[in-house]
Amino acid sequence: MDYSTRNVFECGSATIVNYLPEIGLEAAIEEIITGLHARPRRISSKYFYDKKGSKLFENITVLDEYYPSRTEKAILRMLPLGAITDCSKVDIVELGSGDHSKITLFLDKIPVKQMQGVRYFPVDISRPALEASIKELACMFPGLAVQGIIADYIHQMHIVSGERKKLYCFLGSTIGNLDRGDAMQFVRDISDTMNPGDRFLIGFDRVKDVQILENAYNDAQGLTAQFNRNILNVINRLIESDFDTEDFEHRAFYNRAEQRIEMHLEAITDVCVKTPFAAENILIRKGERIHTENSHKFEEKDIQLIGEHAELAVNKIFSDENQWFSLVNYKKIG
Ligand code: SAH
Ligand code: AVI
Repeated sequence: MDYSTRNVFECGSATIVNYLPEIGLEAAIEEIITGLHARPRRISSKYFYDKKGSKLFENITVLDEYYPSRTEKAILRMLPLGAITDCSKVDIVELGSGDHSKITLFLDKIPVKQMQGVRYFPVDISRPALEASIKELACMFPGLAVQGIIADYIHQMHIVSGERKKLYCFLGSTIGNLDRGDAMQFVRDISDTMNPGDRFLIGFDRVKDVQILENAYNDAQGLTAQFNRNILNVINRLIESDFDTEDFEHRAFYNRAEQRIEMHLEAITDVCVKTPFAAENILIRKGERIHTENSHKFEEKDIQLIGEHAELAVNKIFSDENQWFSLVNYKKIG
């Protein structure tokens, strides 16, 4: 996560622009230190995604227990292209794009002749994920115009503009990682940049049996535990601290009242963290937790409510046969 160097760089035939320096390292450090002092202590889930974290997430997506990715991909494979958008002269803006495996399923449906009019803008906070994905796409779709954007989509979506028809994609139920109010506001903010007829495709993980949910975040191989602990390595680099990942255990459980999986790191010993950015050492007692992620689950009424609040019509909801996951095609009302 490069907050300090303003740069535009080449990645094969594509360009990547890093907008994170507009937020600045100091603001990131302040956010982290405030979260570590708060009760309950917290670290934003956006800090999971350094090179190792992005790779670990990619490996999680193919685990048997982690049903969301394969379920969403199965829905994407079956979607008729015309049901989502008319692909002539469209800008596809993918928020939190991660690896290329989902957008590929969509791009595969576009006839070669129409590809000349398509531009793809993957937006991600993780430079390694963005670079790897863009390189793969260049090989698979030589005719596709790609412009990568390293940015925090919560605070920096003003950077995407222009009058061309747009299709925003927010896949993987990454919307569930936002608090419910923030998710409503976020979709509203994106909608405010859209023109009548533009589309917004959002993936929603649905409320389901608790055991299925809890297994997805407590896999037998321990990849989710590694992913959770790795956030401390990212924090160590950003705030020059000395967290030892071995001092913490992975905890993930379903909170029924909030309809969400919560991930925490629980100290298994008293921990004293040093960082030059806090006046005093941060003392975390054995048994105390740092809240690292929420992953909200949704009902159909939530999907409707999010659309209404953002002045987006629910054009169509595509779900698997078990109703475990839904891809929703919203349309900007004009
Ligand atoms: N959409 C992909 C990846 C989901 S993982 C899929 O469905 O598989 C979440 C992705 O969002 C990661 O690549 C992460 O780097 C990115 N991300 C998380 N918070 C972000 C933020 N605030 N701004 C931009 N990208 C973010
Ligand atoms: C990216 N996001 C939707 C994933 C999720 O399921 O909340 C991140 C994740 N956390 C643990 N496993 C996967």
